[in-house]
Amino acid sequence: MKMNDCLVGVYGASGFGREVLPLIRTQLANQFINLKLVFVDDGACESELNGYPVLNYENFLRLEAENKFIVFAIADGHVRQKLKAKCLADKLEVLSVRADNAVILDMVDIGKGSIICHFTQFTSNIKIGEHFHANIYSYVAHDCVIGNYVTFAPSVRCNGNVHIEDHAYIGTGAVIKQGTPNKPLVIGEGAVIGMGAVVTKDVPAGVTVIGNPARPLSR
Ligand SMILES: CC(C)(COP(=O)(O)OP(=O)(O)OC[C@H]1O[C@@H](n2cnc3c(N)ncnc32)[C@H](O)[C@@H]1OP(=O)(O)O)[C@@H](O)C(=O)NCCC(=O)NCCS
Repeated sequence: MKMNDCLVGVYGASGFGREVLPLIRTQLANQFINLKLVFVDDGACESELNGYPVLNYENFLRLEAENKFIVFAIADGHVRQKLKAKCLADKLEVLSVRADNAVILDMVDIGKGSIICHFTQFTSNIKIGEHFHANIYSYVAHDCVIGNYVTFAPSVRCNGNVHIEDHAYIGTGAVIKQGTPNKPLVIGEGAVIGMGAVVTKDVPAGVTVIGNPARPLSR
């Protein structure tokens, strides 16, 4: 049975926000009679985007609905974390978003607040923390362990037995070599993997790597 009304705010009226809103529209279409979707953006110049209202946070907070959710469509994990603290203090509930064709096999545990885009795949025995983003065409293979606020740009290939710590950012088309059960390949906290990088070894926390094989970016 459909519930009455639902309001979802997509925080970030950016390119990614515009990609995520339609996923929510599809995900919730059959659950609510009256589904209202808006963008939430404190710096937006427009009052409407793709036919949906753009509100600042204060105005979004004022809106009332039986069911009210927020989604953080922002690639920077640190910004997601800050916004989450603010929204939790205001008692907003975070929605997890999942595209209808995402493939998720056995024993895959994905924390709250994730955004799983179209054509992504999660094979078996995978653990992922909160507020994970998997952009289009990315995959995560068996026995990977991923922390909180990790971001995958499109087409990330994360092979088996890889551990990725909190706040790491993995750029478009990066390929991460598999580890082993005894020695997983580790991408450290806050590391950045450049687009197109081929990661063959552990990446220390906070380091940006690029290229094939991936090496630290020298300034
Ligand atoms: C690696 C990265 C984080 C570096 O960003 P940055 O610190 O702003 O670095 P710059 O753009 O100033 O580039 C520094 C140098 O590295 C090179 N470079 C940057 N990214 C590179 C990459 N992924 N592979 C190879 N070389 C790269 C630049 O050409 C530049 O070289 P130069 O000094 O010879 O001119 C960024 O380029 C990147 O790959 N980000 C991911 C982008 C992405 O996946 N977006 C998805 C959007 S959904």
